[in-house]
Amino acid sequence: MLIAQITDPHLRAEGTRLFGAVDTFGALRSAVDHLNASNPVPDAVIVTGDLVHDGEEEDYAALSGLLQRLTAPVFAIPGNHDRRDLARKALAFSGVVQDAGPIRFAVNAGPLRLVGLDSVVEGCEHGHLGGDQLAWLDEQLAAEPDSPTVVFLHHPPFATGIGFMDKIRLDDSEALAAVIGRHGHVGLIACGHVHRMIVSRMGAVPVVVGPGVAHQVVFDLTPDAMSGWILEPPAYLLHHWSAEAGFVTHQVLIGDYGTAAPISSQHR
Ligand SMILES: [Fe+2]
Repeated sequence: MLIAQITDPHLRAEGTRLFGAVDTFGALRSAVDHLNASNPVPDAVIVTGDLVHDGEEEDYAALSGLLQRLTAPVFAIPGNHDRRDLARKALAFSGVVQDAGPIRFAVNAGPLRLVGLDSVVEGCEHGHLGGDQLAWLDEQLAAEPDSPTVVFLHHPPFATGIGFMDKIRLDDSEALAAVIGRHGHVGLIACGHVHRMIVSRMGAVPVVVGPGVAHQVVFDLTPDAMSGWILEPPAYLLHHWSAEAGFVTHQVLIGDYGTAAPISSQHR
């Protein structure tokens, strides 16, 4: 099974560049084309928040159009840049968005269970799940104890070392860890928000943060690091699951890096 994870498109409608420089529409379109042309095609595509940048209606319309071009089923959760009311409409095509409340999902993909959480606190940048949603997660995980499960949320539940992002991370990660710890079939937690691929763990469960599909956050581990973005190569994650190996995550760069060449014995 192959589950693709796109994160943080921060979409602006076609023709408008984010920060006057980042072609977010072109970036998401390239990701969609890349996924549709990949072999094998993923069994599902998950988008882990910051779907658009400024919460504008036209940006959500553009998002909806691009995501509906994906040939694989698409499920999405919001990030701190999103507006739930507009995101709800834009994602209605996925068939799992409720009329009110958190934008979350729990779906099956072959033998896997995919659970998406809504960690958005409207009007704030940090993330919070809250008791009600954690109780919902507990129920969802208890319902299918034999299905290897991925839990998706926008805000990472750990400090990355990138200071300005850590100030706006998930604030109830201990409560999340308590729920995850009760369910040994959770094999992976996958997040967005930090626009870089980062790996950690929560108890025995790997936690991975996906790279931005348009722009990246500047890599700076100094305590007073200034917040910043940079046009490093866009990428997405592919979570491969097999009964033998469990979950194995690959970072896939999007872009033209030349032609692949065979590895000959001369060059080993
Ligand atoms: Fe973001």
